[in-house]
Amino acid sequence: MKKGKPSATAEGNAALRAAELLRPKDERVCEDQFARRFLGLRFGIVVRCRLLTRIALWYAERILPGAADSLVARTRYIDDYLKQCIDDGIEQLVILGAGYDSRAYRIDELKAKVRVFEVDHPNTQRVKIQKVKKIFGSLPSHVTYVGLDLDERKLGEGLLESGYDKGKKTLFIWEGVTVYIDPEAVDETLAFVAENSGKGSSIIFDYAFQSALDAASESSDAKKWRQAYERRGEPPKFALKEDAVGEFLSRRGFYQMKSISLESLKKTYFKGVNANRHVTNLGGIVQATVSRRE
Ligand SMILES: C[S@@+](CC[C@H](N)C(=O)[O-])C[C@H]1O[C@@H](n2cnc3c(N)ncnc32)[C@H](O)[C@@H]1O
Repeated sequence: MKKGKPSATAEGNAALRAAELLRPKDERVCEDQFARRFLGLRFGIVVRCRLLTRIALWYAERILPGAADSLVARTRYIDDYLKQCIDDGIEQLVILGAGYDSRAYRIDELKAKVRVFEVDHPNTQRVKIQKVKKIFGSLPSHVTYVGLDLDERKLGEGLLESGYDKGKKTLFIWEGVTVYIDPEAVDETLAFVAENSGKGSSIIFDYAFQSALDAASESSDAKKWRQAYERRGEPPKFALKEDAVGEFLSRRGFYQMKSISLESLKKTYFKGVNANRHVTNLGGIVQATVSRRE
């Protein structure tokens, strides 16, 4: 993130979800009807015009191959998991590094049953709050905004001060964030989740594969992704070996791990006319339940 500015990658993600909505309904992998409303002028103009959107997606595919299709698949997978958790009775949802995540506003079941905490850097959250007020006229009563620079303050301090109840069954969503933060910050966050959430709580997050960041990697997608990170001045900071995530989480107090590669989502979500879309094999998604405590 550039000093004093909201996250540009958060806006880029919202733009990709907005672009997905321009596809015919039966081709959309995820449905985010509010993504467009969170965009600034530049992206806002692009997603109003199908031709400009097609050119932008073509360009995105050249510099970050597979990014657009992997992102919508990731959002859809996490949406599906969230809906399952709502059915299983979660009482709180914590969205870490929320950016322009619109789940609190577009998933109706949350409004009645679940308190949502959106945790984000104050610079990004300030812009989000302005946009939410503009879209809905006021801030929704079921959402609590927790502005926290996680480089300066611990997650626990901010959440507990904001009314988070550590005895309640909670889902933590951490989408599109871990690659940008230090391994120590990943550990601190996981420790908070493991030690401060009610029985049956869980976390879902995506992460980069170590092999994708490895300079020796032969994959052309991986080379282009590394170049893009370097150009943006946002070096990837956290990654895991593809087969190590289970052990990594088990050592940190989680159980019932289920991990999948992004590429494997292609079979589930990209059928028919979508069969040729490009999902990368540079990362994965994992969900895990918090260990029982006596
Ligand atoms: C790539 S965006 C992901 C946004 C959203 N989760 C999504 O998937 O579209 C990364 C998010 O992490 C947040 N972030 C980055 N550094 C942070 C920090 N030091 N403290 C808190 N949040 C931070 C940014 O504000 C941004 O919203």
